[in-house]
Amino acid sequence: MKSRNDGESNAAGKTLLVTQALPYANGDIHLGHLVEAVQSDIFVRFQKLSGNRVLFVCADDTHGTPIELTALKRGITPEELIGEAWKNHVRDYAAFSIGFDVFHSTNSEENRKYAEYIYTMLDKKELIVEKEISQFYCEHDRRFLPDRFVIGTCPKCGAPEQYGDVCEVCNSTYDSADLVEPVCYICRRTPVRKTSIHKFVRLDKQEDFLRDYINNRPVLSDDMKNFVNNWLKEGLKEWCISRDGPYFGFKIPNTDNKFFYVWLDAPIGYISSTEKWCTDNGEKTETFWGEDSGCDVIHFIGKDIVYFHALFWPVMLHSAEINLPKRIFVHGFLTVEGEKMSKTRGTFVLARDFAQKLTHPQATEYLRFFYASKLSSHAGDIDLSSEEFCKRANTTLANNIGNLHHRTFVFCDRYFDGTVPDAEWDETIEKEVHQAAEEIRAAYETVEYRKVIEKVHGLGNRGNRYYQDSKPWELIKQDKDAAAKVMVTCANLVKACGVFLKPVVPHIVAKMERQFGTEFSWPDYAFSLRNRKLNPTEKLAAPIEVELLRKMFTINKEAAPEASQLELKPEVDIETFGRIDLRTGTIKSAGRIKKSRKLIKLQVEIGPETRQIVAGIGEQYEPDSLPGRQIVVVANLKPAKLMGVESRGMLLAATDGESLVLLNPESPLPSGARIS
Ligand code: 2FM
Ligand code: ZN
Repeated sequence: MKSRNDGESNAAGKTLLVTQALPYANGDIHLGHLVEAVQSDIFVRFQKLSGNRVLFVCADDTHGTPIELTALKRGITPEELIGEAWKNHVRDYAAFSIGFDVFHSTNSEENRKYAEYIYTMLDKKELIVEKEISQFYCEHDRRFLPDRFVIGTCPKCGAPEQYGDVCEVCNSTYDSADLVEPVCYICRRTPVRKTSIHKFVRLDKQEDFLRDYINNRPVLSDDMKNFVNNWLKEGLKEWCISRDGPYFGFKIPNTDNKFFYVWLDAPIGYISSTEKWCTDNGEKTETFWGEDSGCDVIHFIGKDIVYFHALFWPVMLHSAEINLPKRIFVHGFLTVEGEKMSKTRGTFVLARDFAQKLTHPQATEYLRFFYASKLSSHAGDIDLSSEEFCKRANTTLANNIGNLHHRTFVFCDRYFDGTVPDAEWDETIEKEVHQAAEEIRAAYETVEYRKVIEKVHGLGNRGNRYYQDSKPWELIKQDKDAAAKVMVTCANLVKACGVFLKPVVPHIVAKMERQFGTEFSWPDYAFSLRNRKLNPTEKLAAPIEVELLRKMFTINKEAAPEASQLELKPEVDIETFGRIDLRTGTIKSAGRIKKSRKLIKLQVEIGPETRQIVAGIGEQYEPDSLPGRQIVVVANLKPAKLMGVESRGMLLAATDGESLVLLNPESPLPSGARIS
């Protein structure tokens, strides 16, 4: 892509294009998403504050099987689903002041255009090859079945009704061909194996380019670089970029019924969203994505998608002669109260619930502040502990900086008529601020936000100590000029802290901007206030109590069952249901299967027969506790082998995702009784 700038940089400073990973359109924005949103937004705000030209782009990632499946379960079209998600996502990001210049969609004409263009370029560079692969195919629905569209019994633990790629009970991953008794998710019929020709990208041909790109440019941090070099050392496999239709996505030109795999067109959304903004604003996409544009493309991503961004994506861009990312910042995952976010504990918190249910005026700013205080350039996980969250916000914002701000301006109001008096400031403190400014700037550039917060906190401490030691309340009685010097110094120090914190907590700092009657830019950290009448003082930040957060988790926990919709499988007619023969059974004996934590082998009496059934209930039931129990059995299930042991039937059990209980008749019946 040829650029309009031809390498000339913008007179006002650098031009940057910043992205965060595009959220999937089949889910809500939660606190985990916000780590990255806050991280990238702070970077953008810092760059804008510094006078650079920045375009902050994002979009919904809308294609692929999970979207189609979610829409199917909800009985709506994928288009309806992604339309709804788009509105919710825009609203949720805005509540946390995530200031995207554009929030578009990968299901757009701009994206189709660039997906086709990049594919054509890959083809032109002879990087596309075709290979035959075998997959499940449903002859009834006349479609190939991606992993999520096949269900069956987990080949590892025997749990029934598992998807074709991963078992949600034992977490093992497998090939869908290994599922026991696979059926089509849509019609519950047994699929067949069928071959089809697919398109692959020859990544191996680009290994030299990638090695050079990763190692000779400052794209990744050292730890991430090692990761990627290890992948390169192992050698890159061909990457399958096509899927058989029907598939919610873009059709591949000159093919019958092949579509681009979602991960091909997802990152292209970065370019197409830029184009959307350019069209709306009379600009050219090449200004940002032209190979010689001089624009710095900066990506923020989670550590789970490094492979896509550091290998596939550069190959796509390089082949299509498009600007390569200058820097990819990678962050870790979020835990809450030391554990994975959990719906049952109430710690899986949606962005909208945090914004609406945490009833504190600075709640969303405090989340930004908290994340900043934990974030560095390393991809370590970060934990949101409610205690630490409150402590950090209270210590630095409400008490330290808030206190210095409050006592300074209350004093100016009382003794200097709401004016920053006309006096010299303390030059030692001024120098310290200048020195800190350099360190803070460097920390922002390298996304070491933790250091930014530490430095600002240090300056706040310094100011409070200086105020305390100088005792202006005594000075004012004997030496008004000396008191004035303290006030001028503190006022300028507070202003500097405001400038330094503006990218992190823009709304809190906006109160200072209103007070000083100016919108801060980076050079405003320099001491400049004296002999200045100010607007009324607003309290910056109120303390927050840990109970408030805990209450929100509790509300969230209680709301969980109503909040989540009942996720049903597709409807079946009475005839289909009638084909399942359910009977009561009585367990005669039970024993564990060797080398399996979960599998238990049972002998079950069903009327005149005794059957062997293998069930994945070993974590919940001790074999000794089972004989004599009445249970419900699917009696006409085709026999299958689980870990080499034959199973002729299936027990019915209920699970809420955590516990699992066997179903039994309300009062005893002879075994073999029909259930309908
Ligand atoms: O992992 C994810 O959530 C993806 N939706 C990220 C896509 S980022 C980019 F490539 F579009
Ligand atoms: Zn089917």
